Amino acid sequence: MDEIKLLERLKSELSEDRYLHSIGAMESAGDLAILNGVDVRRARIAALLHDCAKELSIEKMLIMAHRYKVAIDEVSMWETVLIHGPLGAKIAEHQYCVNDHEILDAIECHTTGKKNMTKLDKIIYISDYIEPYRDFEGVNELRRMAMEDLDAAVKFALDFTISDLLNTGRLIHPRTLEARNHMMILISMDKAISAQCLKTHSFAPFSVFITSA
Ligand SMILES: [Fe+2]
Ligand SMILES: [Fe+2]
Repeated sequence: MDEIKLLERLKSELSEDRYLHSIGAMESAGDLAILNGVDVRRARIAALLHDCAKELSIEKMLIMAHRYKVAIDEVSMWETVLIHGPLGAKIAEHQYCVNDHEILDAIECHTTGKKNMTKLDKIIYISDYIEPYRDFEGVNELRRMAMEDLDAAVKFALDFTISDLLNTGRLIHPRTLEARNHMMILISMDKAISAQCLKTHSFAPFSVFITSA
């Protein structure tokens, strides 16, 4: 299904607010894809469909989860909003004819994040936060961060989510914690490698001097 047909179908199935949110996420994902060397078409389609299951009633979600064999873990049983990620991937596959597994994976993990997210996963995760219709304290700072450093923005958004869940006394999905810890390790490793490179570089002239002496 091409982008125009997807837009038409989503418009008929989602509320106006959800449709605008999906369009906004699509625009943000397209921009981030260009900045991060990711296929723009893939990013736009994944963002457009990321919430295709969000407005289903809980009864319908459970029926469809059973039909498409979506496993519902203990945390998602209590925080049923989390089901729309994995179920959305199945609906995108079976009802919107998406067979690109990178797109389906990005839709699947957009609510919780996960360990070892791909660039596309990260783009969809953060586009959901920063799309132009979002309005919360700090959103402009997060938009700027996302345009400059995708990993830093994803880690910031995961921290924000975890802190909000703690403050409101809600369950935290283990995949969110795994995602946050993994991003923190990744960023720390990048910093350590950069520091090592700088150190090596600063000693380079001295090494050349020793070698040639
Ligand atoms: Fe969502
Ligand atoms: Fe969303």
